[in-house]
Amino acid sequence: MKSVNVAVIGVGAVGVEMLQILKQRNFPINRLRVFARHGRQIAVNDCSYNVEAIEGQEFDGIDIALFAGTEGEKGASSLYAQKFIEKGAIVIDNGADFRLKEGVPLVVPEVNEAKIYEHKGLIANPNCTTIQAVVALGGIYKQFGLEKFILTSFQATSGAGKRAAQGLWEETKSVVETNQNVEYDHLKKRIEIALESGFSHQIAFNIIPQIGSIGEEGYTTEEWKVIRETHKIMDNHSIRITATCARVPVFTSHSEAIYFKPHKKTAFSELEEVLQHTKGVKYFPHALPLPLDSEGTDEVFVGRLRRDPHEENSFWLWCVADNLRKGAALNAVQIAEHLLAKQ
Ligand SMILES: NC(=O)c1ccc[n+]([C@@H]2O[C@H](COP(=O)([O-])OP(=O)(O)OC[C@H]3O[C@@H](n4cnc5c(N)ncnc54)[C@H](OP(=O)(O)O)[C@@H]3O)[C@@H](O)[C@H]2O)c1
Repeated sequence: MKSVNVAVIGVGAVGVEMLQILKQRNFPINRLRVFARHGRQIAVNDCSYNVEAIEGQEFDGIDIALFAGTEGEKGASSLYAQKFIEKGAIVIDNGADFRLKEGVPLVVPEVNEAKIYEHKGLIANPNCTTIQAVVALGGIYKQFGLEKFILTSFQATSGAGKRAAQGLWEETKSVVETNQNVEYDHLKKRIEIALESGFSHQIAFNIIPQIGSIGEEGYTTEEWKVIRETHKIMDNHSIRITATCARVPVFTSHSEAIYFKPHKKTAFSELEEVLQHTKGVKYFPHALPLPLDSEGTDEVFVGRLRRDPHEENSFWLWCVADNLRKGAALNAVQIAEHLLAKQ
């Protein structure tokens, strides 16, 4: 593969993972530039990176720009993606700003690789929760179609950025330190701690059943992302999808319980066969796929496959994946690898 000039924008939870993955996969880099809001020197796994403050920079000569900055009008991709594209770079964006925009491919390579090559300078990475669901269901969808699925997610704090993951740690320490000499029975009295994670409620020893803001029909923005992004990726708006997304006190790796109904009548053994051969899936017929085990890995772990005893042709599965890797940085780097392989 030809070596290219790469930019990484953002060095938070996803950006740092991106730098590690580029190195781990020997991505063919000629020159690497790293940007964030503030310039500084950072160390990632014994490698030192010079982070340039992005404001006022010129972006000439970059071939691929991997965006891992925050979203919204002050976010990195809203402010700078177009500038990179004008200078000839292909932008791969991790945020939500362009995902549903007409003409912007929304890509999970295992599911819709062909869309990569339709880009007009910008390719969007889906939301972490969507990515692992479409990888887990992708082979089943291709083989049997999908009439519907109902997803419940249990999402790690790092999904909300570096500060949120650090906040879980601080809140947990605070609860533990406050209760050090207290018997379990006395813990029933709720103690007030400083909220450190940036979430609306304490996340340590708790679950928050809302990610993003509440929107249409009482579903949150995160839940609508799962619905709308899946429809776009699978290029099929007729799949009936609903979701409940919850934040749980886990550092890394999202878990999802998915209830699904294939379009064609499907035997349990056929589903197992497909899962065993689905790209990007590691199927566990007997062991439990756990978030701690999937941390730092590249596959979506799938297990707990079972049929609904009351409803025909309906099933459950459980899946976990590292939200910072397959849910974000790895997916973006895989898209970049496909682009290079076609050059
Ligand atoms: N975390 C996940 O699991 C996950 C999964 C899928 C997608 N995403 C998306 O990936 C993106 C990054 O998420 P994250 O979790 O890594 O966030 P994060 O930990 O909060 O880090 C954000 C990084 O973006 C930089 N940044 C913010 N605004 C910028 C701007 N205008 N120009 C340049 N850099 C800017 C920050 O720079 P400073 O360090 O200088 O402040 C920081 O390094 C978000 O769009 C998020 O929605 C995240």
